[in-house]
Amino acid sequence: MPAKPIIAPSILAADFANLQKEVVMLNESAADWIHVDIMDGVFVPNISMGLPVVEAIHRHAKKPLDVHLMIVQPERYIDAFRKAGAETISVHLEACPHLHRTLQQIKDAGCRRGVAINPHTPVSALASIITDVDLVCVMSVNPGFGGQKFIEQTYSKVAALKELILTSGSQTLIEIDGGVNQDNAARLLEAGADVLVAGSFVFSAADPQGVIARLKASA
Ligand code: DX5
Ligand code: ZN
Repeated sequence: MPAKPIIAPSILAADFANLQKEVVMLNESAADWIHVDIMDGVFVPNISMGLPVVEAIHRHAKKPLDVHLMIVQPERYIDAFRKAGAETISVHLEACPHLHRTLQQIKDAGCRRGVAINPHTPVSALASIITDVDLVCVMSVNPGFGGQKFIEQTYSKVAALKELILTSGSQTLIEIDGGVNQDNAARLLEAGADVLVAGSFVFSAADPQGVIARLKASA
């Protein structure tokens, strides 16, 4: 466990009519990254935002963009999201028949390589790829919507993933995405999480910067 977790507020829960204001608020907060959820209405049942919006966020952001692609055939868009300002690009294991190749493509684009796994996907599915990935995004809800209830089995999944990372000697970061709040953060970090994504918990709060600071201090 790092001394302090990486906190990545999910801009999906922000006020889209005031995106610049929301990004400036994050710039001035203890957030480390800005998590950006891209949904295509095919891989997941919802549509969120596309490249022009990511570019607009990037224009104002002073923190790295952590782009989570919930789209089919993500390999078609790696370079475009890099150009739009992504620092990390996560693709879904379930959307990539040639995951190894897609991760290489992300690396060649100069981005941190992320793989996201749905709640039903076992950690063992990552065994052959774990040394070729910089970040595993463990979905703790079914992807597609913000504001869902945290799935409790995530704790044991994170512990199993930590074990896989330690035994393989990889430096992969573990990110948790979905339903993260003050009640589960400490236990997730204890199980081995490095990065906490939080959307509604941050943006529905009266004091989002205070919430971010408290998540950063949780251990
Ligand atoms: C879900 C997204 C999450 C979501 C998290 O499909 O990948 O990043 O924005 O939102 P909360 O924290 O509200 O569950
Ligand atoms: Zn996400």
